[in-house]
Amino acid sequence: MTEKPESTNPDKKNGKVISFINMKGGVGKTTLCVGIGEYLANYEDKKILFIDVDPQFNTTQTLMDHFNLEEEYMTDFRHNITIRKLFESISSISEIPKIPSPKEVILSFNDSPNIDLICGNIDLIFDDNQGDSARSRRIKKFIAEHKLREVYDFIFIDCPPTISFYTDAALNASDYYLVPNRIDRYSILGIRLLKQVIDRLKYDEDLNIQPLGIVYTMVGSPSLKSQRLKDTFESSSIVQQIALFNSSTTYVNDLMVGLQGNISSKYKKSREDIHDVSLELLERIERG
Ligand SMILES: Nc1ncnc2c1ncn2[C@@H]1O[C@H](COP(=O)(O)OP(=O)(O)O)[C@@H](O)[C@H]1O
Ligand SMILES: [Mg+2]
Repeated sequence: MTEKPESTNPDKKNGKVISFINMKGGVGKTTLCVGIGEYLANYEDKKILFIDVDPQFNTTQTLMDHFNLEEEYMTDFRHNITIRKLFESISSISEIPKIPSPKEVILSFNDSPNIDLICGNIDLIFDDNQGDSARSRRIKKFIAEHKLREVYDFIFIDCPPTISFYTDAALNASDYYLVPNRIDRYSILGIRLLKQVIDRLKYDEDLNIQPLGIVYTMVGSPSLKSQRLKDTFESSSIVQQIALFNSSTTYVNDLMVGLQGNISSKYKKSREDIHDVSLELLERIERG
């Protein structure tokens, strides 16, 4: 279950690291992150590593549910093999922090060789530590040290909607950020806060991240009111700097309640959406 990826892969990739982020909860970050990743893995033969840095660990729950590993997560993985290992602090001044090996943190799935996961962990909340800039570089170091860009086509980081060192760690490690966004009265707030976080990091760190775009999620039937909110949102200069995806995801009730779990490609209507968004993502990255 926990075989490690080989860092000396003869067929070297030029992987991209993408943070799925918005400083607002419930906008579809996790659903889109898992949805696009699973689509690219299973329909486009891309090798994907998910990194779940959200203490709510919904990406992890979705995949545990999908692979029938909920029991193993509770009794084993959450204690032994989660993102928390990357953020562990040292307890003595003479200790040199050590980057864990891939097999210490990356979970693989027997029947799905294109999908790997660094599990999230609710106990991350105990590690929160403002101003710890060394820790906010751990994901970046882990990816670089083990040359994971040569192993994976994409590393998708599902971020929490909060300002914390996990968010900093995700952005520090990323080549791109993608912003899932649900149109409502407060949409712009999440994007404004995100810009502040990125601007601050750019000032403090050697940040090398580009916006990939905003993806509208859970789009409902059009109404005058929602069109007005959308127009206001799109007239904001912050939004214009990030640019919008042409494709979006519509509201699909089954994703919340369906027996196939929360994986977009499992339901016909959301499969069409996730196909379009995934291909647009590939195109945007190819264009650079
Ligand atoms: N396209 C969609 N149609 C219907 N429900 C959706 C869709 N996308 C996400 N959801 C639901 O909306 C809720 C919030 O989505 P989630 O991806 O968890 O957001 P976030 O990660 O931003 O908090 C979840 O219950 C999820 O199942
Ligand atoms: Mg989430």
